[in-house]
Amino acid sequence: MIELTKTGIDGLDGILNGGIVTNSTTLVSGNPGAGKSILGLQYIYSGVEQFDEKGIYLSFEENESDLREAAESIGFDRWPEHVESDDIKVYDKQVLLRENDFSSSIELLLDDLKNDDYDRLVLDSLTMFELFFDNEKEKRTYLLKFTDILSNNELTTLMTNEQGAVFPDTDIGLENYLTDGNIYLIQTPTDAGVNRYLWVAKMRKQDIETDIYPMEISWGGIDVHENASAFSMMSEEDSPI
Ligand SMILES: Nc1ncnc2c1ncn2[C@@H]1O[C@H](COP(=O)(O)OP(=O)(O)OP(=O)(O)O)[C@@H](O)[C@H]1O
Ligand SMILES: [Mg+2]
Repeated sequence: MIELTKTGIDGLDGILNGGIVTNSTTLVSGNPGAGKSILGLQYIYSGVEQFDEKGIYLSFEENESDLREAAESIGFDRWPEHVESDDIKVYDKQVLLRENDFSSSIELLLDDLKNDDYDRLVLDSLTMFELFFDNEKEKRTYLLKFTDILSNNELTTLMTNEQGAVFPDTDIGLENYLTDGNIYLIQTPTDAGVNRYLWVAKMRKQDIETDIYPMEISWGGIDVHENASAFSMMSEEDSPI
């Protein structure tokens, strides 16, 4: 029996037939403003609020107060309390870049992760994490070390990734092979604002719905409309994966 971890976003858990596979790593990909960080905050916040699971949020993009403000602005009112009580542990960019060289900072982080008793982790963003490495070899080495530690410590992980939807003929990066699942957040401009969609493109070991579903960001977080008329962006024959 495969154990599942609920994201806490009802529509998404429905599409995933229950949740993401516990102890796996899922990429959350999308363009700037698509909602990746909000999804990450919601995943960690719901973990504590609904499932009694502690979470770690690593941010290379924002500092702790930015994250707190982002969480509060979307309605995650008790975020600061959970940080205070260590149910949510935040590593912001100041902490993550505490040493002069990036590898030493990462070594410290990896040691911390080994000793901790947490269930969920968000890395925001993988794109930034990778940019700090000087060369490809170092990047691969640390990415592998990192994913190893995540799985040895039974952390169910979301990594945000600054990348639009992948279609046939597009280059697929290393991160797609190192991770178990890939969720794309897609936004298209309209006269009235923006239409948002969510697409679960891949989820190893799981039978998932691969249609594209409308979603909304509002007070309370992300809502995925699992029962709205979903559509397929391409025909069966030229499915992307
Ligand atoms: N309270 C809210 N109500 C409605 N929409 C909101 C609210 N708060 C944020 N948003 C929307 O969420 C989007 C930001 O999402 P988020 O910061 O998660 O994006 P991101 O994918 O992480 O972007 P980036 O790659 O720049 O980090 C904004 O474009 C904004 O329109
Ligand atoms: Mg973000």
